[in-house]
Amino acid sequence: MEKNPYYLAYEKRYQAVFAAGGERWGHAPDDKELVDTLTKWVEDNHLRGKRILEFACGEGAGGVILSSLGCSYHGVDISRTAVEKAANALRMYPNATVSRLDMVQDVVPGQYDAALDCMGFHMLVTDGDRAAYLKNAFQALKDGAPMLFYKESYRSNPAEVYKGPVCSFDDWKKIANTDYTTPSLRKTKMGSGEVEVRIPLVPARANDRDGYLKEMEQAGFTVEQFREMNISEAIQYSASIYARKPFLPSASKNKS
Ligand SMILES: C[S@@+](CC[C@H](N)C(=O)[O-])C[C@H]1O[C@@H](n2cnc3c(N)ncnc32)[C@H](O)[C@@H]1O
Repeated sequence: MEKNPYYLAYEKRYQAVFAAGGERWGHAPDDKELVDTLTKWVEDNHLRGKRILEFACGEGAGGVILSSLGCSYHGVDISRTAVEKAANALRMYPNATVSRLDMVQDVVPGQYDAALDCMGFHMLVTDGDRAAYLKNAFQALKDGAPMLFYKESYRSNPAEVYKGPVCSFDDWKKIANTDYTTPSLRKTKMGSGEVEVRIPLVPARANDRDGYLKEMEQAGFTVEQFREMNISEAIQYSASIYARKPFLPSASKNKS
């Protein structure tokens, strides 16, 4: 479980935010853009009453929204603090569960009707980890199931994306010019105001359109829609990617 300790940078972040009295770090369940996007995605794919898996679920905003829409929900995240917070946020929904899991290393058992990743994929920085996660996600889905990657870090200009190999976390620290430990001052919500908290930068790995399409298609997904998102408080430049695990012809299924 702890083979990728650098992905636990978020655990430290959540702990620092809550210790400072902050309400949350990530999305809120009443985030209008997220609510609207998930409502349409659920309707378009007839997902009410279906089993949805969320990777990198954080504090559970996606879970609350999907449960309110009538979906059965399971969320996973590597951060113990986030998983506890999400479980608490979901306590009134009998068909919602959460567990702690490293989405790079661990396969989620079972087969789901759909999957959501809300700003999770871009946290994975090495080529190997990104490919391993997409493979795990693909495996956890039924044939024909949709997967929505919401607000992943994106650059429209390919020149702004690092295109060389990223083999280790140390490689990425040099490329991103960060150390993941030096704290910087950030603000988070507390009541009707804000609280200041000193937390290290956790740089996401952005990609351009072709780069994302290539990563997803290599994992077996088909990409149905690539939507550039507006600049928001949560992330400056991002894209949402509507992918699907294709139906495999039964002959090719029997071969493997
Ligand atoms: C930007 S936050 C997004 C959280 C939430 N989806 C939201 O939108 O509020 C990224 C999340 O990815 C989780 N994460 C990072 N690496 C992970 C891994 N290897 N396995 C599972 N979760 C991971 C972090 O703990 C964090 O909760």
